[in-house]
Amino acid sequence: MDKNKEVGLSEETNDSDQSSTRRSFIVKAATAAAGLGAAVCTIPFIRSMWPDAGVIAAGTTEVDIGNLKVGESMTVMWQGKPVFVTHRTPEQIKEAQEVDIKILRDPQTDAERVLQGKEQWLITVAVCTHLGCVPTVGKGEFGGSLCPCHGSQYDTSQRIRQGPAPKNLAIPPYEFISDTKIKIG
Ligand code: FES
Repeated sequence: MDKNKEVGLSEETNDSDQSSTRRSFIVKAATAAAGLGAAVCTIPFIRSMWPDAGVIAAGTTEVDIGNLKVGESMTVMWQGKPVFVTHRTPEQIKEAQEVDIKILRDPQTDAERVLQGKEQWLITVAVCTHLGCVPTVGKGEFGGSLCPCHGSQYDTSQRIRQGPAPKNLAIPPYEFISDTKIKIG
């Protein structure tokens, strides 16, 4: 009898241990799944914040634009922010210059956004003025960029034309240090 009791006690203890182990396993698995889910959700957001290509440096950023063909853009990093460098086509410049600024939400002429005599080069901070996503350059109805987050669209001067963003893409301080190099910052 005593033996049976002992066996009974021992089985109860085993059941309790197993149940505790199972609970612990379920909690760990759920925690791991939640962590994985958060990581998976975060990856596209982080990726959307990454530049396509460019030069990364603190303070000022020097950019070699010698190989950037007409109609092409590249993204570089300046002080932790992505910056679009676009070599505009004559058509894109004309389109930007012909916009009546009275219709703009953030009225600015194209001339106010480029250096005189260097109108083909448009340099803008690539951070949407709505909530800070990185727009996709060259996309959207207005030819400048399209923000994938809430659909803001910018024109060929990267001025806001449609969607919730309140302001044009910002122009960082920059200068030409040679015919093929600019220094941002
Ligand atoms: S962050 Fe660009 S439209 Fe909202």
